[in-house]
Amino acid sequence: MIGALDRLVAVTQPGMERVNRMILDRASSHVELVPEIARYLIEAGGKRLRPMLTIASALLCGAPNGEEVVYAASVEFMHNATLLHDDVVDESDMRRGRLAARMVWGNQASVLVGDFLLGQAFMMMVEARNLDALAVISKAATIIAEGEVFQLARARDLNTTEADYDAVIRAKTATLFEAATEVGAIAGGADEPGRAALRDYGRELGYAFQLVDDVLDYRGEANRLGKNVGDDLREGKMTLPVILALQSATEAERELLAQSLGNSEAGPEQLAAVLALFNRTDTLGKTVERAREHARRAIAALKVLPKSDMRELLAEIAEFTVSRAY
Ligand code: IPE
Ligand code: IPE
Ligand code: MG
Ligand code: MG
Repeated sequence: MIGALDRLVAVTQPGMERVNRMILDRASSHVELVPEIARYLIEAGGKRLRPMLTIASALLCGAPNGEEVVYAASVEFMHNATLLHDDVVDESDMRRGRLAARMVWGNQASVLVGDFLLGQAFMMMVEARNLDALAVISKAATIIAEGEVFQLARARDLNTTEADYDAVIRAKTATLFEAATEVGAIAGGADEPGRAALRDYGRELGYAFQLVDDVLDYRGEANRLGKNVGDDLREGKMTLPVILALQSATEAERELLAQSLGNSEAGPEQLAAVLALFNRTDTLGKTVERAREHARRAIAALKVLPKSDMRELLAEIAEFTVSRAY
């Protein structure tokens, strides 16, 4: 049986072909370094999950007006902009199976090209002349940045709470998924309950997606992820596996976390010791369980929409998001 992600690729293909053309076209500039860096990241691919969700949401609502293509391209631009910025902030070396752009061109150029992509994301939205959709996207851009700053402020802070973590992932990740499905609903001519349903679906899916990403950062495989394992530990990120482990850690285990978090030298041995603590406290399992709960909520949100193959597929995408943890 074909997996949910492949089926999403198949049903959104006509729209995504236009999205991909628009993305490459809009990455051009007379300043050569701009397309060079932008295309380096774009051509490395990525799953294109968010723009596909925009297209699928529009199709699900039944009356797509064509604007979903522009919105989807804008959403992916915004995502790529946040990745360029995020790798600078997180000092990550790998992205999409390649050296991160900052490792090739440096932090300064990465930040500036990120700004360029963000600007283009807004220009595309303005050209579409839908103030409602523009409002959704602009608000998302602000909240994502706020989330990244909040996360930075909490780095290495062992008093970080589960509520803090929730606020961070809602802002930095769930917001863009929510915006992706909501603007798709707008382009698809959804009524207010339909739009709210897809908004809720996107948000819950985004929560699940980040929870699983935070698990994979500890026990994923670098060549499958296209990014290095252990980045979050070296960066001192207070993700849920860490927060939950601290709740039942002994003095020595607490000390291990205090020593390892934010230690850029933390190698495989230190990562293995932290993983052993996570295994003892089952915090990766508990984090996946939390992701599963959000996926359930995502699926429940779809229930107000008429039953259709597309609705069923989006429900399976929520399950797929959790299954990535294994
Ligand atoms: C990476 O997102 C950033 C997170 C929110 C964890 P994706 O895993 O969707 O990245 P690409 O676009 O597929 O590379
Ligand atoms: C992703 O957070 C959020 C944004 C890119 C805004 P992460 O820092 O966990 O993403 P990865 O792991 O680098 O892809
Ligand atoms: Mg990162
Ligand atoms: Mg991550």
